[in-house]
Amino acid sequence: MSVLQATALDAGYRSDSPVVRGIDLSVDRGEIVALLGPNGAGKTTLLETLSGLLPRLGGAVSVDGNPVRPGDPRAAVRAGLVLVPDDRALFRGLTCEQNLRLAVGSYRRADVAAGLAQAREWFPALDKRMKVAAGQVSGGEQQMLAIARALLQRPKVLLIDELSMGLAPVIVESILPVLRGVAASEGTAIVLVEQHVRLALDVADRAVVLVHGNIAFECPATELAADLGRLESAYLGTSAPA
Ligand SMILES: Nc1ncnc2c1ncn2[C@@H]1O[C@H](COP(=O)(O)OP(=O)(O)OP(=O)(O)O)[C@@H](O)[C@H]1O
Ligand SMILES: [Mg+2]
Repeated sequence: MSVLQATALDAGYRSDSPVVRGIDLSVDRGEIVALLGPNGAGKTTLLETLSGLLPRLGGAVSVDGNPVRPGDPRAAVRAGLVLVPDDRALFRGLTCEQNLRLAVGSYRRADVAAGLAQAREWFPALDKRMKVAAGQVSGGEQQMLAIARALLQRPKVLLIDELSMGLAPVIVESILPVLRGVAASEGTAIVLVEQHVRLALDVADRAVVLVHGNIAFECPATELAADLGRLESAYLGTSAPA
């Protein structure tokens, strides 16, 4: 049963030349989709449009069957769509704990401590960093913080842009199992944009490949992992039509 459903979605900056054109994307409960594509394909534009940061140029988006108002980030969050942007968007002058507390603002008071404890459990590396300014912790810790902050908002759909940007593979490998675990235990649907194709396909159920603003193809992650040449052909525009 799909949680996120985007239909005939046009996205971009100018309605006379959308960056992303007429795409259909659905993601099931507990499913992890790796959104792959070359630079400039429109991955960030798509995620920003789904999360209401960019106005939608056309098409419909729904979460659990409920339409999401276009171009309204608060409405998207209320609907359960939460974005971890490629720049992480942390409050760098606030401590890690203060950043997390911003995400648990809607919790009942008794649940706040449990939420913060949950963040430490997901990412033990954050435990000793809670009183340190977010701008002063390592890049890996910043990404963990950004993901923990997003997860504490209990998203139905988590969108993550450039998970591994600037991070050592060992850090990424410690983050991915957390995503897998949350998808399995909470049923969170996850869309992951990740340049490190191998890592992405390892954790994902399905790959969706975006080229020049169109979905070139989609397939099970294991299928693509076994034939990475298919990705190269799609990027180069030499793939045979399906
Ligand atoms: N602020 C902007 N104004 C106008 N056009 C933009 C803007 N940001 C991006 N674009 C254009 O939109 C297209 C898609 O960019 P987008 O950032 O969505 O791609 P991407 O797939 O995320 O690429 P990358 O892998 O480099 O992050 C590109 O042609 C880009 O030049
Ligand atoms: Mg991008």
